[in-house]
Amino acid sequence: MLCRAQYVYEAGGGEHTTLENRGQNLGNIRDATAIFDPIHPKDIMDKLLKPALTMGVRAHKPAPKKKKAVKTDGAEEEVEEFKKPPLAAMLNSFDFESVAREVMEPQAWGYYSSGGDDEITLRDNHLAFQRITMRPRILVNVREIDMTTKILGVPASIPLYFTATALAKLAHQEGELAIVKAAKKAGVPYMLPTLSSYTLDEMLEARTPDQVVFSQLYVNPERSRSEEYVTKLEKAGVQALFVTVDAPQLGRREKDMRNKFTQQGSDVQGDDEDDGAVDRSQGATRAISSYIDPGLNWEDVPWLKSITKMKVLLKGVQCAEDAVMAYKAGLSGCVLSNHGGRQLDTCRPGIEVLPEVMEAIKAEGATKENFAVFIDGGVRRGGDVFKAVALGAQAVGVGRPVLYSLASYGQNGIVRMVHMLQDELQMVMRLAGTPNIPSITEKHVITTNLADHIVPLPIDNLTHKTYQGLEPAARL
Ligand SMILES: Cc1cc2nc3c(=O)[nH]c(=O)nc-3n(C[C@H](O)[C@H](O)[C@H](O)COP(=O)(O)O)c2cc1C
Repeated sequence: MLCRAQYVYEAGGGEHTTLENRGQNLGNIRDATAIFDPIHPKDIMDKLLKPALTMGVRAHKPAPKKKKAVKTDGAEEEVEEFKKPPLAAMLNSFDFESVAREVMEPQAWGYYSSGGDDEITLRDNHLAFQRITMRPRILVNVREIDMTTKILGVPASIPLYFTATALAKLAHQEGELAIVKAAKKAGVPYMLPTLSSYTLDEMLEARTPDQVVFSQLYVNPERSRSEEYVTKLEKAGVQALFVTVDAPQLGRREKDMRNKFTQQGSDVQGDDEDDGAVDRSQGATRAISSYIDPGLNWEDVPWLKSITKMKVLLKGVQCAEDAVMAYKAGLSGCVLSNHGGRQLDTCRPGIEVLPEVMEAIKAEGATKENFAVFIDGGVRRGGDVFKAVALGAQAVGVGRPVLYSLASYGQNGIVRMVHMLQDELQMVMRLAGTPNIPSITEKHVITTNLADHIVPLPIDNLTHKTYQGLEPAARL
């Protein structure tokens, strides 16, 4: 809408209240005096518009509260104070992301939100789901919807687990402890990270007696350390070990690299972070990469299997050949993942790799029972969970949504985030004519465009508005 200095005219008719009363709509009004005056006589408003159509004296929004903030060069500046919406206003995972961006410390936000290089894969992870079209069936009795399932034999309220993400204390003081508790409340398994901010014992103690957790493993260059760690997990009743295989070197995550990492992590696998071996100069990512053995290879798989009775899976598989090798090596499954777009850029999203993997392992005789396939990356909607299940995934992992909801509202935030995904999935299942998880099949989705990256899509406004673009050094 355009407005002249003291009067506005609402082109579409509509309400003719004074601007003062228009509350949030003020944001839509623009002062067009500069282009209005040269082409209109001064009295045009009075001559042509009925009094009821004039909008009154322009009122200004009450000045927002300001707070002091320290800029990167140390100088102070005044910025608008962020008013956090109530938890009940959070309707989807993007809502949490938008709040997290406001409430998190810049270095923590930088570490969580960043992706590798140009962040193409980071963004494509979610967009890929939109290249899959729904193929709903009608006249199915969908009075009752049951989205419960089992993940590696563990009952879950929805085919979803919280995947391992390092350094949860950057989100919230209670870090991984809050995630363990929220996982219990939400009825989903949590994969404990190796590079946690709380110690393994603390995370294990946060469980309720009946709560099952999984664990992620970065294999340490000193294998005996990993063996000790795995033994401890097994003794504590952890059910499955996800060995991360997509990170022989951690990706270049430039948002993170621009922030110096100063926050204290945990005593990860007994290492002393202050011995000078860790380069803290380039963000959290670089500070933790020295715990991971780049020499890990297929010949180590028998060793991995020999050190535990837990189910062993690979996390970070990205093509059919490797999934088949994992199956043939006697592993219990794999996660099709590109590490949330934080490693090799321009990789395919897990959801895109899924069809080729399912076809290839089926040809080798794998079944859903003897080889579980998971995906993670970009899962932000209940519909995304549906599509992954339709294409053969036993469940999906969610990473950032857990961290963002934790950062915004603590443990309750995580639980609400899962409830929103459950609400969404329930609706999608009902509208697709699939009353329970086994009834969701590949016939309920169309994947023709999945691997075609040039499909024109409508703009996804939520992703678009929450995504923070990379900035080159000269713009900082
Ligand atoms: C902040 C952050 C830390 C992560 N840390 C680890 C980790 O320590 N080990 C690991 O295997 N994956 C790690 N991941 C990758 C996640 O397990 C998962 O693959 C990814 O987050 C899924 O994508 P999403 O964040 O879009 O849900 C991390 C991801 C993020 C965002």
